[in-house]
Amino acid sequence: MLYKYCGHSGIRLPLLSLGLWHNFGSVDDFDTATQMILRAFDAGICHFDLANNYGPEPGSAETNFGRILRNNLSAHRDELFISNKAGHDMWPGVYGTGSSRKNLIASCDQSLCRCGLDYFDIFYSHRYDGVTPIEETMQALIDLVRQGKALYVGISKYPADKQQEAYRILREAHVPCLLSQYRHSLFDRKAQLGGLPGQADPAKSNFQIAADNGSGIICFSPLAQGLLTGKYDHGIPEGSRAARSSGFLQQNQVTPERVAAAIELGKIAKARGQSMAQMALAWVLSDERVTSCIIGTSSVAQLENNLKTLENLSFSTEELQRIHEIISDPQLSF
Ligand SMILES: NC(=O)c1ccc[n+]([C@@H]2O[C@H](COP(=O)([O-])OP(=O)(O)OC[C@H]3O[C@@H](n4cnc5c(N)ncnc54)[C@H](OP(=O)(O)O)[C@@H]3O)[C@@H](O)[C@H]2O)c1
Repeated sequence: MLYKYCGHSGIRLPLLSLGLWHNFGSVDDFDTATQMILRAFDAGICHFDLANNYGPEPGSAETNFGRILRNNLSAHRDELFISNKAGHDMWPGVYGTGSSRKNLIASCDQSLCRCGLDYFDIFYSHRYDGVTPIEETMQALIDLVRQGKALYVGISKYPADKQQEAYRILREAHVPCLLSQYRHSLFDRKAQLGGLPGQADPAKSNFQIAADNGSGIICFSPLAQGLLTGKYDHGIPEGSRAARSSGFLQQNQVTPERVAAAIELGKIAKARGQSMAQMALAWVLSDERVTSCIIGTSSVAQLENNLKTLENLSFSTEELQRIHEIISDPQLSF
């Protein structure tokens, strides 16, 4: 595994991190989930990304992760970097969602309990809810650090103006933002470009603001939930995320334009001696501001395939040019 420092901090993360959004819930196979975590850990993936609502059912990914830790990795807590987040819908009533202090503090307590942990390595505000003052949300994160429930804090999916404000408040409290999470892939470059292709301002992009403020950047859904693996080239295969009722990827997102682009990208990957997934991950990591990307996998075989990304991370100018020709179509973005 290769490791990289997060922004201006002393923390290194593996270039590939493993996320538990799908495939680790109560509807999924527990043995496969266990094998994926253990193989990841053995390969040097020491960073696991969770959130309160991961499942389904919500909370069950944390419960399963806690069980896997207790059964197999309890002697290795100090070798692990475990993240958690709160902000999306979790429990009934007005306090079970959003970016309020009430939601974040209660959620962190619940998540620690489900995971069987004393602290998280990083706790994120999962989203800006459009209403809660940034001061309130950031103060809750700062207090979680002061209470010893989190070592570091992060923000996820914050729009540029709120992102900037969050960094300032955290810096003034001497709890700097370690990581900023954004969706980023060959099919979604808004966080990197500062808007849709053609209307973008890279200087005001989420990536550049994070880099200017010393925050690490961690990218999620680097394979566009599987669209960038070649698996949808000939329709929607049984068992795939788009085919599963519990999957977040909707069948109408598997558009002819995205499939056609994936086929063309696959030709470049093949010429590089890589799988489509490996090239898509290498491309995300080719932005030097990116610390790590969080992959999802539904089998150990997928994990093995993705780990081989690290064997070829560089691109020729011609490859990049051809890739950019293919992905410049705004219809691919979602
Ligand atoms: N901050 C946020 O709001 C936020 C939002 C979303 C995600 N995240 C984090 O990011 C993590 C990753 O997101 P993601 O799961 O959407 O990532 P992704 O890597 O884009 O998609 C993962 C899916 O792609 C398919 N896949 C992976 N490797 C493959 C391979 N080698 N060959 C064929 N198919 C492959 C699998 O789908 P199949 O099921 O079809 O096999 C897998 O479940 C999440 O677990 C979560 O931790 C954060």
